[in-house]
Amino acid sequence: MFAGKHLPLILSMNEQIVILDFGSQYTQVIARRIRECNVYSTILRYDTPAKQIAALKPSGLILSGGPASVYAEDAPLPDKNIFKLGIPVLGICYGVQILAHFLGGKVEPGQKREYGKGTLTVRDNSCPLFEGLPETLQVWNSHGDRLTRLPKGFVPVATTENSDYAAIENRAASTYGLQFHPEVVHTPRGREVYSNFVHGVCGCGRAWTMRNYVDQAVEEIRAQVGSEQVILGLSGGVDSSVAAALIHKAVGDQLACIFVNNGLLRAREAEVVQEVFGRNFRIKLQYEDASKLFLARLKGVTDPERKRKIIGRTFIEVFQAATKRAGKAKYLAQGTLYPDVIESVPIAGNPAAMIKSHHNVGGLPKKMKFKLVEPLKCLFKDEVRQLGLELGLPKEIVHRQPFPGPGLAVRCLGEVTPEKLKVLRRADAIVVEEMKASELYYKTWQTFAVLLPVRSVGVQGDERTYDWTLAIRAVESQDGMTADWVKLPYDLLEKISLRITNEVRGLNRVVLDLTSKPPGTIEWE
Ligand code: XMP
Repeated sequence: MFAGKHLPLILSMNEQIVILDFGSQYTQVIARRIRECNVYSTILRYDTPAKQIAALKPSGLILSGGPASVYAEDAPLPDKNIFKLGIPVLGICYGVQILAHFLGGKVEPGQKREYGKGTLTVRDNSCPLFEGLPETLQVWNSHGDRLTRLPKGFVPVATTENSDYAAIENRAASTYGLQFHPEVVHTPRGREVYSNFVHGVCGCGRAWTMRNYVDQAVEEIRAQVGSEQVILGLSGGVDSSVAAALIHKAVGDQLACIFVNNGLLRAREAEVVQEVFGRNFRIKLQYEDASKLFLARLKGVTDPERKRKIIGRTFIEVFQAATKRAGKAKYLAQGTLYPDVIESVPIAGNPAAMIKSHHNVGGLPKKMKFKLVEPLKCLFKDEVRQLGLELGLPKEIVHRQPFPGPGLAVRCLGEVTPEKLKVLRRADAIVVEEMKASELYYKTWQTFAVLLPVRSVGVQGDERTYDWTLAIRAVESQDGMTADWVKLPYDLLEKISLRITNEVRGLNRVVLDLTSKPPGTIEWE
């Protein structure tokens, strides 16, 4: 979120697997699968020099898939010396083509593009990758080119309907290739293939756990910060909350958190943050109530982009002033995550590369010369949640749904007024309450209320009303890039609608948003 130079990732891992990224949309999924095996993994660009890779002393190397063809003019190719590192190598999909290209095999355009579900038949069950797995497996394919001649020393170990070389090995050289994608959910036993690779072939243990990470991160934060002061902008979201708890564990009162109330928060949000961090964790918390300033600046503004800009600018101003009051801090802590710092390969259609530009709010002015503390920057979101639980944060925070920086302003269409916010907050609280009671809240990506400044006629009691409309938005998503609207049960929707029209004055109509993304966005503004 803020400007600043990223420090190197925590790399003092005893054991890790390096994944070279050739632009596959699944590269990060591979990294997560490896970590789910309790082995640390690092993603590096496909052209990272072999020397640099060797310096990390990895236990194994994975070559990701990718959309290119090895024979294309601008094909992404690795440093040829990666095959001389003397460590096990696993090529996935395009990674197999790379093996063939560098080790003397042959790749040709496939007659039929193999895409989607397939059945893999394991022909040699002594192959360590398939240890403990049945003879036939459901797998997910996605490739056009195919191997037509194996590199020297390789033999086929599994086939699919369209490929005699769906899995190949050179066991003596500990080098393997898979035409399918074991990392995706459509290869249900793919995790075991990765587990076999990292534990069986590479000989890794199971040292990567969030319990171990806490100890390591605490040490590194202490070493970095020394006796200096650290400040952190706490939003109440998962990332800043976990970062706060972790840094507090490391340096206690050297950490001061700044929480800005922009007047656009949901019901009880400011109270929960103060309760959890101030009272339970006893973290130094500077509460900045700037709601009046934000709302005054938003008065009369209806254009969505202008609303966002005003909120962004005002936040920086308020935060900057607050840091001055917080004392002499040398460090600014941020909840930056691993996907924000991976140097992504800019290949069209790579969603990991697109997500960053979308909601980038600019950052703090350069003149704020802080050094950064980013203790989550080698973690994926699911790891951050585990870490939060490990540190004793409540489920309410650890599994909180994403909430946009501009807050309720993007869910309160048109001009934002205190009156509309009050109505929206009460209605939103009912939606969240009923979703939690039905246990669906934590199963959806986001569920919230949107206030539409559209008046319609209604009748409540014996009175004719002319009030606003509330839309309910519930979506399922993996990363917010695309989303499907959720088919919530009718009886739940009925209950929510009844409660809203009975309990919230100012609303007489409730509607459901049936739009996926695309073509809609998740937020309404
Ligand atoms: P859209 O509405 O673009 O949102 O489909 C995708 C995801 O991003 C969240 N979102 C934001 N997050 N600052 C944020 O930190 C913002 O300004 C912002 N706007 C939208 C949105 O809630 C959804 O999860």
